[in-house]
Amino acid sequence: MHDAPAPLDDAALDRLFLAARTHRAWRPEPVEDATLRRLFEIVRMGPTSLNGQPARFVFVRSAEGKAKLLACLDAGNVEKTRAAPVTAIVAHDLEFWRLMARLTPGRDVSGLRDDPRHAHETAFRNAALQGAYLMLAARALGLDVGAMSGFDADKLDAAFFAGTSWRTNFLVNLGHGDAARLAPRGPRPDFEDVCRLI
Ligand SMILES: Cc1cc2nc3c(=O)[nH]c(=O)nc-3n(C[C@H](O)[C@H](O)[C@H](O)COP(=O)(O)O)c2cc1C
Repeated sequence: MHDAPAPLDDAALDRLFLAARTHRAWRPEPVEDATLRRLFEIVRMGPTSLNGQPARFVFVRSAEGKAKLLACLDAGNVEKTRAAPVTAIVAHDLEFWRLMARLTPGRDVSGLRDDPRHAHETAFRNAALQGAYLMLAARALGLDVGAMSGFDADKLDAAFFAGTSWRTNFLVNLGHGDAARLAPRGPRPDFEDVCRLI
């Protein structure tokens, strides 16, 4: 018989959710490549439908990469992204089914291959989930995160993914945030507002 695992303690819940904030101002400390590799090793263990793993990640740290990225952002996201040591482009691969021969051996992928709408819906949903895993895994590793959907997707795809089946899903700034520059937190809905017990 297995004992149920103990719930995470309050400090862990604070780190992941309760005290964790979306950061928009960044301290200059770098994020090592080894940390990004460790981050990915955690993210890839998160669940996706049929273990399809459609997310693709581009970690932009170079000045050249950042310049290309900044040109695609809404004005309000430019300075925060310039200051962040790393910006992750969370993308989805519309042809993610190609990798499934290895990830889900024996599975017939023709339904995804032959139905681009189904492939898009599956890729978009699961890559967004994987982006959320990325944010929580980053917090678990002691990093701060700031997600962004304020960008020109066509421009960003042209700049980074021209001629490929990768498409941008959303962006996540990663690093060590400047907590002194956080604005007050927005309220959250109550259980009764958004939940039903049936
Ligand atoms: C998918 C997604 C897109 C977001 N887009 C932006 C954005 O473009 N610019 C921005 O400043 N914040 C953006 N945010 C941050 C949210 O506004 C923030 O997470 C929310 O207000 C909660 O703030 P808190 O995490 O500090 O409690 C985004 C968050 C998510 C998850």
